[in-house]
This record gives sequence, structure tokens and C-alpha cells, in this order.
Amino acid sequence: MKIRSTEIEKMETEKLDESEMAAILKQVTWLNSKFGSLTPLFGFLESAAQSLGPELSVMDLGCGQGDLLFQLISWSQNRKLKIRWLGIDLNPKSVALAKEKLKFENVEIICGDALQFFSSPHEKPDVYVSTLFAHHLSDLQIVELIQGASDTANWGWYFEDLQRHALSREFLRGLTWALGFHSVVQNDSVVSVKRSFRKSDWQKYLLAAKVDTCMVKIQWRWAFKYSIEFQKSGAKAKPTE
Ligand SMILES: C[S@@+](CC[C@H](N)C(=O)[O-])C[C@H]1O[C@@H](n2cnc3c(N)ncnc32)[C@H](O)[C@@H]1O
Repeated sequence: MKIRSTEIEKMETEKLDESEMAAILKQVTWLNSKFGSLTPLFGFLESAAQSLGPELSVMDLGCGQGDLLFQLISWSQNRKLKIRWLGIDLNPKSVALAKEKLKFENVEIICGDALQFFSSPHEKPDVYVSTLFAHHLSDLQIVELIQGASDTANWGWYFEDLQRHALSREFLRGLTWALGFHSVVQNDSVVSVKRSFRKSDWQKYLLAAKVDTCMVKIQWRWAFKYSIEFQKSGAKAKPTE
């Protein structure tokens, strides 16, 4: 696994009916919930709120069916933050599920390409977040993602994705098989690890995107993940009307 695989996940190519898709997404959600914590991302948003004030906008890139947004919204309600939430995903089926799940007036879900959003006329958010999105992109697209998010975020961005590691690949292979998960989940969890990253990959992308590495923090996270945080210096709160 010295280099990233370019194998495509079955979920992106196979024709799956709605009930199969729902079962697959349920298993994927379960896996994601067991192997990670949102505490570092909450901390990042907390810092954004401290510098910008409690009214800010946050966009989830590759938001899927809206699981992350749902958890972030619950967290922000407890913190009394007034956040405007945006999500974007390429897959119309996921977007429909996200819209169904996130029927709040301060949420906007867009169906489209996250990379094209950066040059669109749509107002840009203070913060971009994304989880398990980058490994769906090519190396060149990841450089574009970093450039687009760094140039257009008012305050910063936080991405989290898998670490490319043989232990993680074999663990997921064994676990999804032992739990009798759908063959698409068994296949795609392994492919996701093979498509994911070492720390040196992120360093290479940041360099190619010409991002000042003093403004970036790359951290290993349990289990077999990296978070990459970028914080702009001198970002200011937008004037309130
Ligand atoms: C593994 S899922 C992660 C979903 C969600 N972020 C999570 O953590 O559960 C990756 C998502 O990225 C979306 N995606 C892939 N390429 C995209 C692109 N260019 N623009 C927007 N979404 C994209 C896919 O449709 C899919 O829903």
C-alpha cells in the first residue's frame, strides 16, 4: 500500500435498490460511529465561534446522508450557537436522505460537485468540514479541494479521513465479514482504506496547493484516521446587519 489505489468503490458503480441502499448505509453509519470521535471537530468549531462570535456558517463537503451535520446540529443546539449549516453531495439519493433527515430552517443541502462549489456564485461559509470525503477524489482533485477551501473559507477548514494502513485494511476486512455485512460494505471498507492517506500524502497535497504549512495541523486520530486543520490568520466576524 505504498501508493493510493485508484479502485472505485462498488457503491459508486453498482445499481442498488432503495432497501439495499438503506441497509448498506445503516451498516456504514454503524462502522463510522464506532471508530472515531467528533470531539476534535467540536473543538475546532468552538474555536471558530470564539473568534467569529456565535453566528457562523459551516459547510459539510461530501455530506452523504447528513449524519455528520445531524450530530453537529445537536451539539450546536446544546452550545447555544446560531450556525447556518450547508451540505453538498454529488449523489442525488444521499441528498434526498439528507434533506429528509435535516428538516431545519437553518440548513441548506445542495446536490452538486463540491469542487465546483468553490467557484460558484453561492455565498461561501466561514468553515468547511468534511469526513471520509477526500478518499473519493484523485490526487489532483484533493489539491483542488485544499486550494478551494483555503481560498474561500472565511475562517478555516477541518477534514478528516482514513489512514492507509495494512492493519486497518485487515481489521475492516475481518470485522465486516464476521458481522455478515453486505458484500458492498465488505468490499468498500477495504477499498476505502486502500484509497486513503499517509501523513506524507497530505504534506504533498498541501505543498502542491501552496498552503502555508504554519497554518495547518495534521493529527493522527483513533482509529486509523488523520484530521487536517487549516486556520486562516486574521479572519474576522462578518458585520451583523
Ligand atoms: C464515504 S461518503 C462520506 C459521507 C459523510 N461525509 C460521512 O462521513 O458519513 C463520501 C461521500 O462523498 C460524496 N462525493 C464524492 N465525490 C463528490 C464530489 N465531487 N462532490 C460532492 N460529493 C462527493 C459521495 O457521494 C458520498 O456521499
